[in-house]
Amino acid sequence: MTSTVPSTLGFPIHAGTKILGIETSCDETAASVVVGGHHVRSSVVSSQVDIHARFGGVVPEIASRAHVDLLTPVIAEALVEAGLEGPELDAVAATCGPGLVGSLLVGVSSAKALALVWDVPFVAVNHLEAHLYAALVEDPTLELPLVVLLVSGGHTMLVAMEGHGRYRLLGSTLDDAAGEAFDKVARYLGLGYPGGPAIDRIAMEGDPHAISFPRAMYHEGLDFSFSGLKTAVINHVRKNPEASTPDVAASFQEAVVDVLVTKARRAAQEIGAKGLALGGGVAANSLLRERFLSACVEDGFHGFLPSRAMCTDNAAMVAAAAWWRLGSDGPSGLGHGADPNLKLPLIA
Ligand code: KG4
Ligand code: ZN
Repeated sequence: MTSTVPSTLGFPIHAGTKILGIETSCDETAASVVVGGHHVRSSVVSSQVDIHARFGGVVPEIASRAHVDLLTPVIAEALVEAGLEGPELDAVAATCGPGLVGSLLVGVSSAKALALVWDVPFVAVNHLEAHLYAALVEDPTLELPLVVLLVSGGHTMLVAMEGHGRYRLLGSTLDDAAGEAFDKVARYLGLGYPGGPAIDRIAMEGDPHAISFPRAMYHEGLDFSFSGLKTAVINHVRKNPEASTPDVAASFQEAVVDVLVTKARRAAQEIGAKGLALGGGVAANSLLRERFLSACVEDGFHGFLPSRAMCTDNAAMVAAAAWWRLGSDGPSGLGHGADPNLKLPLIA
């Protein structure tokens, strides 16, 4: 990956281009200044987890209102940490989808207002594309084609990143996302919200081989299905109310990670990838991180694990993706809205 890219639409980005990224798609309010697509000068994340925990999940209306309260101080902190004044920036970017529409609108409207005031371009960023860039922010030497296993609360996808902005979907979930399965199983087991970190913690005390849960479509293809596994966990606990919660959590996590890692390495082999990376909130999972790295070593792929902070929602990945998009597509219009169902742009 080079640090200077010729713009096709007349917007010259370079190694010194400073972008403020804003992320408000769900329950993290985040702002970050990234220079040249990968030098992170600041990255501030204010989590709303405590606000939503007592409801057992994210309440969209509460999330939007919290973004309104938190975003200005979060942006101010990101600028102070970066040692920059707003008008010194070269562009302002915000996640425009997918996500909760009210939350997205807070970030998009703020970014457009700041871009107008500072007289710099506005860049609308696809949240999924931002997750794909998380690995490249921390390791800009990663070579393409890269297979990224993107596992979050809303998505489970295997994406071949063949070039910048050139993505091919290799596989995806047919029902629940992996993070959704973690959250639903955790809720059923009474482990609270968010479920992924709770299962990750309690599974450390359990036996991952205590219960043999199903691995859907294990031997076929690159798609995933997690809803049968979730139902199997619920049925097991109903039939065995005395079952040890750490054993159930560990056996569930073992089944999810086994399927994710098996399909990710199959995908990398099938397309002859140069590397394999993780992205999305579930990529913070301890067992997934361990198994993923061992698989890469065994198969001889350059495996890369972004830090946990870069896997979960943050604005550094938004600013990084914006640097590339600004170079390839130029600024976004100020009429650009938020799209809660935005898809990852794919090549045929
Ligand atoms: O990417 P993300 O921060 O937000 C979305 O765009 O969805 O991902 C959130 C998801 C939640 O489902 C959460 O339970 C899961 O990531 N997660 C984890 C872990 N940390 C977060 N899942 C398993 N183990 C973890 N340690
Ligand atoms: Zn996300």
